[in-house]
Amino acid sequence: MVKNTMQKNIKKNIFNFTIIYGSTRKNRVGIRFVYYLANQIKLKGHKAIIVDPLIAKLPMLNQRFVEYKKSKVPENIKKVQKALNRSSAFIVVSAEYNHMPPPALINIFNYYYAEFNRKPSCVCTYSSGDFAGIRVQSPLRAMLAQLGCPPIKFGMFQPKVSNFFNKEGAPSNQKDAEARFNVFFDELLWYTKKLNS
Ligand SMILES: Cc1cc2nc3c(=O)[nH]c(=O)nc-3n(C[C@H](O)[C@H](O)[C@H](O)COP(=O)(O)O)c2cc1C
Repeated sequence: MVKNTMQKNIKKNIFNFTIIYGSTRKNRVGIRFVYYLANQIKLKGHKAIIVDPLIAKLPMLNQRFVEYKKSKVPENIKKVQKALNRSSAFIVVSAEYNHMPPPALINIFNYYYAEFNRKPSCVCTYSSGDFAGIRVQSPLRAMLAQLGCPPIKFGMFQPKVSNFFNKEGAPSNQKDAEARFNVFFDELLWYTKKLNS
């Protein structure tokens, strides 16, 4: 049923974009960027799914999804698997924690594997300061390549994230945000169409 809906949507050029976010901090602000991206994706007529570690609540890795007996997979681990499996493409949203991606983000990736295969990805980074978290591009791009979902060359990079987006994800400069969104999203959509045909 779900597969049929997906296939019908793909024929109509409607794709599932999953945004994977890594912060579990109490006063996290990157979620604003996530909301902005999800809203834009929906405005373009596609589906946006958010994988949020505070909602998914995956424990630090003990067994990968495939290592569980089918009847024994915990609901939360199954739910994320279904979302990843139904995805046409992935957008990873990450800050730098001491120049590295947040541990909860890496933990999500490590639970799964086949779900990522032969789908395109994109890395969007942000920071509270001036550098937009750009240093986590390298480790994340290496990881995504290893998972079989090669990252495209573009992304959206947001310095001073909490000044730029409000709590609902509305940008202070809509024109600027939209121009930067369109650059990477058009490219990601191109690969999404090719790899999901
Ligand atoms: C543990 C930790 C390490 C950080 N390391 C960096 C860093 O290396 N470079 C940087 O630009 N900002 C760094 N920051 C600042 C983050 O850019 C800022 O806190 C950002 O809001 C984190 O995203 P979040 O609010 O979604 O968790 C760090 C923040 C934390 C909590």
